[in-house]
Amino acid sequence: MTETTVRRSKVERIKEQSDNLRGRLREELAEPTTHFGEESQQLLKFHGIYQQDDRDERKARKESALEPDYSFMVRTKNPGGYAPAAFYLAIDALADSLGNGTIRATTRQGLQLHGIHKRNLQEVVATISTHLGSTLGACGDINRNVMAPAAPFASLPYVAAREAAVQIAELLTPRTGAYVEVWQGEEKLFTDEPEVEPIYGKTYMPRKFKIAVAVEGDNSVDLYTQDLGLVPLFEGERLVGYNLTVGGGLGMTHANPETFPRRADHLGFVLPEDMLDAVKAIVLVQRDFGDRYNRRHARLKYLIHDRGLEWFRDQVEKYLGKALLPWRPVASWRYEDYLGWHPQGDGRYFLGLWIENGRILDREGLYLKSALRQIVERFGLHLIFTPTQNLLIVDVLPDQREAIDGILQRAGIETADNIVPSHRYAMACPALPTCSLALTESERVLPSIVEELTAHLRQLELADTPISIRMTGCPNGCARPYMGEIGFVGSAPGAYHLFLGGNFESTRLNWLFRERVKREEIAALLAPLFAYFKDERLPGESFGDFCARKGKADLEAQLL
Ligand code: HEM
Ligand code: SF4
Repeated sequence: MTETTVRRSKVERIKEQSDNLRGRLREELAEPTTHFGEESQQLLKFHGIYQQDDRDERKARKESALEPDYSFMVRTKNPGGYAPAAFYLAIDALADSLGNGTIRATTRQGLQLHGIHKRNLQEVVATISTHLGSTLGACGDINRNVMAPAAPFASLPYVAAREAAVQIAELLTPRTGAYVEVWQGEEKLFTDEPEVEPIYGKTYMPRKFKIAVAVEGDNSVDLYTQDLGLVPLFEGERLVGYNLTVGGGLGMTHANPETFPRRADHLGFVLPEDMLDAVKAIVLVQRDFGDRYNRRHARLKYLIHDRGLEWFRDQVEKYLGKALLPWRPVASWRYEDYLGWHPQGDGRYFLGLWIENGRILDREGLYLKSALRQIVERFGLHLIFTPTQNLLIVDVLPDQREAIDGILQRAGIETADNIVPSHRYAMACPALPTCSLALTESERVLPSIVEELTAHLRQLELADTPISIRMTGCPNGCARPYMGEIGFVGSAPGAYHLFLGGNFESTRLNWLFRERVKREEIAALLAPLFAYFKDERLPGESFGDFCARKGKADLEAQLL
């Protein structure tokens, strides 16, 4: 055993001593304070809750000898992004009554409420639980929300992907009674048998664990960024098994070459009857061999990078008790956001709506939040959130379409055709003011940056070309910037590392082009590259493919 597997980080001790995620959460929740102590903060994550404070106010409050303005982010876990009407309406009401009035759709198809005060946390989580939702495992060192293509197509591969996502989520849901005890005030059950977490054990995973199920050809879940990916494969109408990918992950730390974004590898193929056992085996190998000392080196991607894919496959086969079959070739990938109206294939329709930065709110001229509430209430329709932070209104009957279009139009919501591709495919993480890890702005500045870039693209008559632009306020990579055709990664206040060369289909990592580009200089830096793209682009070539073909040195030469 190596040294790193024996030494343990502080978080490992907190988990181990927490009595399956209970710790002092109940006691601290009952105290009349505005925030939790450090150990409880770690445990709260497993319950889907992040303690934050308003960073815009931090300095002024400190100068006035006030404590930070603490509030909490509460994240839901809904496999495949499915949000039944009752659940969505509960979230909508909570955002107004106890949150900051907005709902944030996440890139893992979950929902976040921000600005919740400690005294209201229990009510928020309990309300979510009684409306078919959960926040358990939405953050923390555990399996996160299992993703699946959002489109509610009735075809077999889509049904299979959704079903697999739900089964995997169920398999990997923690069994601890802590959740109902803390948030619903239930008493701990005392039995002769000690409570065990059959999969996780006392220390859960070394780090977050992310799983997605894709449909062959549809990479809307960003398969290659996941710790574990599955692709159900069919022969005619028969499900023959699942391709497996492992070891994707995006977070890194600036100036620490031992950390890096990594694209997942092809592990192999399993028969349908072995799928859940294979998932379990992969989780257990990471549980037992993942680095529990250095949290920056604890994701599955580092285990596979360090030990090699062959070693990893051997271990998985040992835990599984049988050999994995070889990866099966699949069709090439597309990246779908499903905006606009589409037939589901069962006589009903779904409508994909664009949400700028995933933020559902009402503001002057745009009343998305109210419109959604009205639609869900009036028609009892369910929503599905997408990995691009957008949403689908699903199961719409043909005769409901006109009324829905009318509500959206009156609320000022753009239809898919009216959204410029550069905005449509842009994603930003929340960053300031809520995220404690942010080095600089993201969600609040990306729209204006995209606007400047779009002006250049318009001049070059390139505005109709799909292009993926992604921004984060720090290198953790929450908006998956390392897969974008253009990625901005916050490096210092007002400055970003610029990454180029990813592809629109999101199957290739981009590379660092320039360090510490100032916010004001971004458009001027990219404009000559857009012009170069216009001049030397191959027919149908995307900006990301163009950058990858030309390479960094050649692009640099254009800027001299
Ligand atoms: C605001 C509070 C948040 C904090 C403190 C936070 C923290 C982090 C950290 C530390 C990582 C790096 C993990 C690693 O490499 O091991 C990460 C990655 C990531 N987070 Fe967040 N995050 C936050 C919000 C979000 C939101 C709102 C989303 C979705 C919209 C999100 C989605 C992701 C994704 C997709 C990744 C990268 C993929 C990966 O490597 O797994 N996070 N986050
Ligand atoms: S990428 Fe960084 S700044 Fe953005 S939300 Fe994630 S942790 Fe915060």
